[in-house]
Amino acid sequence: MSIDGDFKCLMVRKTSGKNVARSLETITASDLPQGDVTVKLLYSSLNYKDALGATGHPGVAMQLPHIPGIDGGGIVVESKDPYFKTGDEVLVFHAKFGTAAFGAYSEYVRVPADWVYPLPAKLRLRTAMIYGTAGFTAAQSIDQLERHGVTPDRGDVLVTGATGGVGTFAVKMLAKLGYQVVAVTGKTDRADWLKANGAREVVARHEMNDTSSRPLLSARWAGAVDTVGGNPLATVLRGTKLHGCVTACGLVAGHELSLTVYPFILRGVTLQGVDSANISYAERTRIWNRLADEFAVDGLDDMTTETNLKGLGPFIDNILNGQVAGRVIVSF
Ligand SMILES: NC(=O)c1ccc[n+]([C@@H]2O[C@H](COP(=O)([O-])OP(=O)(O)OC[C@H]3O[C@@H](n4cnc5c(N)ncnc54)[C@H](OP(=O)(O)O)[C@@H]3O)[C@@H](O)[C@H]2O)c1
Repeated sequence: MSIDGDFKCLMVRKTSGKNVARSLETITASDLPQGDVTVKLLYSSLNYKDALGATGHPGVAMQLPHIPGIDGGGIVVESKDPYFKTGDEVLVFHAKFGTAAFGAYSEYVRVPADWVYPLPAKLRLRTAMIYGTAGFTAAQSIDQLERHGVTPDRGDVLVTGATGGVGTFAVKMLAKLGYQVVAVTGKTDRADWLKANGAREVVARHEMNDTSSRPLLSARWAGAVDTVGGNPLATVLRGTKLHGCVTACGLVAGHELSLTVYPFILRGVTLQGVDSANISYAERTRIWNRLADEFAVDGLDDMTTETNLKGLGPFIDNILNGQVAGRVIVSF
């Protein structure tokens, strides 16, 4: 098996000055970079970071031309690495995939072997891409809460950006594990949906955006999975209980954090960063195995919209505007 003729990808190219444009292009095997393993992708997913890449954001689209897409799942069609053979079902991730190197919005990818992971036994390719980087990041965040002793008996756990990709999974996984989940959302019309996903309580976004100068707020949260950053994250930290832990992975509400040290020195609160890109092969494998097993959740189809490369444009715009609920996957 090998690459069969030309194939489609979503390419972002420089036009004039700082302007970029994205379009569906037809390319061939010789346009792909050198690498050990060539994979025919069957699925990818849409993450906030992919939307940034698709608009040419220099922090994600590190070089142009650029093919976005930070995660993909498919079948090996060629391998120079003894660990992988033609026909293997695999997942592809790496800090450079869809950032410094061509990514997954392409029917074929060619990558180094250490960007390729065997599909965990309990997952199918489509399911793995519904989880994708969002589900992985939610799992990583919960793994960190556990490491910091946030057990279900410690009290309410907050999830911000709760209808987003990471947020939806965090709500579902925490509920499955027995936590009392409080979901924060800007989409209050989605309250019933969030409750059906396992949230015990739903809080409007503006309530978790305290603008007073009080260094500490009443202590309510045993822990939190924050996906939005900015002042909501500062609000959560100021309202976290003694020895609680808050994980931070996102920045859609802002990249700055303005607060005092009091949550840390008077309540022993931990702020735990979560970085799903720069982790070791062993650690990524460990988290994927948890995701396929004790963190696995039901109802994945109900939270998923499927599109193809041609139909992706409006979803890219929507995710940048915070308008996507659940997950968008791309099938090839
Ligand atoms: N560190 C990592 O490794 C890593 C990995 C994955 C994702 N991330 C980051 O995590 C964040 C979430 O990713 P995602 O893929 O879940 O994105 P997403 O699907 O777009 O979800 C983000 C959610 O945040 C909420 N939101 C949007 N704009 C907001 C604003 N201005 N203020 C407050 N809340 C807002 C919305 O939920 P509601 O309407 O429900 O409030 C939105 O659905 C992004 O910043 C992404 O870059 C980081």
